[in-house]
Amino acid sequence: MKRKVSIIILATFLAIFLGNILPMITNSYGGEVDQGKTLFDSKCVICHGANGKGDGPAAAALNPPPRDFSSSQFWQGNMDQEIADTIRNGLSPMPAFDLSDGEIKAIIDYMKHTFKSN
Ligand code: HEC
Repeated sequence: MKRKVSIIILATFLAIFLGNILPMITNSYGGEVDQGKTLFDSKCVICHGANGKGDGPAAAALNPPPRDFSSSQFWQGNMDQEIADTIRNGLSPMPAFDLSDGEIKAIIDYMKHTFKSN
């Protein structure tokens, strides 16, 4: 029993290390962020803009306008879940996207990596 608990604790530390600390040290999220950029550029930039400020070429025609992903206010709360839900379900006038869990995660990681300032 005790051993099982320490394995769980070890696995948790390993996950935190690989997910958060390693990217901080190497300053690179590797291929996944690159995949996220490709997806974001092809599917989202038209409205959300390359810098995430909600100023893409199609934004002027949208009501309400896209959010500003570079504002710290946007990143309050559990945004991973909210971004994933928005991509899957759409949010009028934003369409829903039929993407895999891996593709959605790649987009979220790219957005955090690129637009989130802290
Ligand atoms: C047709 C234009 C359009 C496209 C394409 C689009 N969006 Fe949006 N998006 C919007 C608009 C407009 C809003 C704001 C909707 C609102 O406030 O009701 C929005 C809101 C969002 C939000 C904020 C959700 C929230 O709850 O605050 C996220 C996250 C988001 N979009 C992500 C994406 C991603 C990722 C893609 C690409 C896969 C994408 N959008 C493609 C127009 C678009």
